[in-house]
Amino acid sequence: MTSPSIHTSVLPAEVMSFLAIEPGMTVIDGTLGGGGHTRLLVEAVGPTGRVIALDRDPAAIERGSHEFAGKPVRFAQANFCDIPEVLDALEIEKVDRVLLDIGLSSDQLADNTRGFSFDSDGPLDLRFDPTEGEPAWRMINRVRPETLADIIYEFGEERFSRRIARRIADARQREPIKTSRDLARVVMAAVPRQKPPQRIHPATRTFQALRIAVNQELKSLRIALERTPTRLAANGRLVVISFHSLEDRLVKEAFRNRQVWENLTRSPIEASDDELARNPRSRSAKLRAARVLTAAAAE
Ligand SMILES: C[S@@+](CC[C@H](N)C(=O)[O-])C[C@H]1O[C@@H](n2cnc3c(N)ncnc32)[C@H](O)[C@@H]1O
Repeated sequence: MTSPSIHTSVLPAEVMSFLAIEPGMTVIDGTLGGGGHTRLLVEAVGPTGRVIALDRDPAAIERGSHEFAGKPVRFAQANFCDIPEVLDALEIEKVDRVLLDIGLSSDQLADNTRGFSFDSDGPLDLRFDPTEGEPAWRMINRVRPETLADIIYEFGEERFSRRIARRIADARQREPIKTSRDLARVVMAAVPRQKPPQRIHPATRTFQALRIAVNQELKSLRIALERTPTRLAANGRLVVISFHSLEDRLVKEAFRNRQVWENLTRSPIEASDDELARNPRSRSAKLRAARVLTAAAAE
């Protein structure tokens, strides 16, 4: 049995407003997570429509398959950059809407076996799909300190990246870093104490950077932004919610291509004060939406 999701979906009303789903449509949720957005999509397409739900994480797919049993939802444990292959396997040519709500879910964060939370004694894995690629503990014990510093700086926007990388290099010479708690301790010892104390844990940016690196998250998004329009029907829409400035920049630049997209959001949509109060995770969410132009959809 799987336990119910604890994830609160961000920007639900805004997502539905920009997707503008009509009954009978075929819609992809490229990031099933806890299924909150999927549920809204299922209601909107109604009994004559269908939803295809993807996630890289087998645990999310397993939970979703139970929760949506009997509903018109097809599941695929897949990367959203492989939407064309998923559709080929389902013998579906085009879809009307695609939603990508990228990043990490609260369920993944709470799962002590995955390494996403700082105080976990489990292995520092950080992969969405635990069967694909290299776990973070292996990567941080392998790569050169300079590379580690670059990753932490670029993907974590961490100004103490060099100090942190140096401390990791020192620590791993004594003993390999294995758990999230090991890494969190090393990072805390590396960064100067801030005054006033920061809102977020000192290791937040380092964990985010390593997660983005081991999952190659920017690469997946870049490929998805290129490939998805070819499988959108005329007037099809793509809505992307990102939580990182590099991701938001990729979406913004992709939607600027006027041969492919009509951009529906000049500046990104952010959570209201109300939502921020209810769901602090929505703090860094940025939503952008675009409508595919018929020429691109016909390719
Ligand atoms: C923020 S959560 C989605 C939450 C979901 N919208 C909800 O309402 O519960 C992000 C999910 O996307 C998945 N994910 C991240 N990158 C992915 C990718 N490239 N392809 C497919 N799933 C991905 C993660 O495993 C995670 O479950």
